Amino acid sequence: MSISKKQSRFLMCPPHHFDVEYVINPWMQGQINAADQQLAGQQWTRFHSLLSECADVSLMTAVSGLPDLVFTANAALVHNQTAVLSSFRCPERQPEAQHYADWLEADGFTVKTLPAGTLFEGAGDALFDRGDKALLWLGYGFRSNAAVVPHLEDSIAVEIQQLRLCDPRFYHLDTCFCPLEEGFLLYYPAAFDAESNAAIEAHVSPNRIFAVTEDDAIHFACNAVNIAKKVILNHASSELEQWLLARGFEVIQTGMSEFMKAGGSTKCLSLRLDECRI
Ligand code: ARG
Repeated sequence: MSISKKQSRFLMCPPHHFDVEYVINPWMQGQINAADQQLAGQQWTRFHSLLSECADVSLMTAVSGLPDLVFTANAALVHNQTAVLSSFRCPERQPEAQHYADWLEADGFTVKTLPAGTLFEGAGDALFDRGDKALLWLGYGFRSNAAVVPHLEDSIAVEIQQLRLCDPRFYHLDTCFCPLEEGFLLYYPAAFDAESNAAIEAHVSPNRIFAVTEDDAIHFACNAVNIAKKVILNHASSELEQWLLARGFEVIQTGMSEFMKAGGSTKCLSLRLDECRI
């Protein structure tokens, strides 16, 4: 038996049935059937190989009629061996939940479901801080609702800091907020209300924070996957790249144009399975 030396584990879903078939976020507007299938396949494969260089990547089966199933970040919030299953707001994505639950259960996770009316879109809206303290950042306002908080507290017993999202282009927390190893943070301040900005500034010291520009934000710079010192993202301005390099990160840019038509990039296309912050 060979034991993998890679420390991280992710779940991805191949884009065999990916396209923009409905509009549930502003990125999808005017993009119905506009994703170039061949290019999407190439972009996904390239990202998959980059991720596989530093992590074990498991794959689930794509399902016809569920074009957004590729965005596995929205499957659940994973912590140790527990997965709090998403409860999707939009009817178009609700049938995905059973497929994610089946995969997670078969993989050995204890899958917890939420009561009706509690909306939650998994690791798209719930991100662990990667500094010293056990902290879960929860984005709400567009997809998830704050009613999920007590359920998450029950399931994973970690301090939760809620952040209200207020720009519809940044409808999931992982589109505008990215905790990095050693407690660094990338975020787009204008995507949050004043109280949330104050909470972010109270938790993270100024020398660990990089506030991205609108231009970086709309190129999904915050939708980055961070494994140890690697940061894999669609695109970073030279200013952002320099900031990351100066802190010892390796910046890997890989074009994600076709998935951005659906409102997602590298982070959305992957679910980290080895989350354990306590
Ligand atoms: N079209 C998908 C949606 O609007 C994109 C999901 C992106 N996922 C993410 N984790 N931000 O739900």
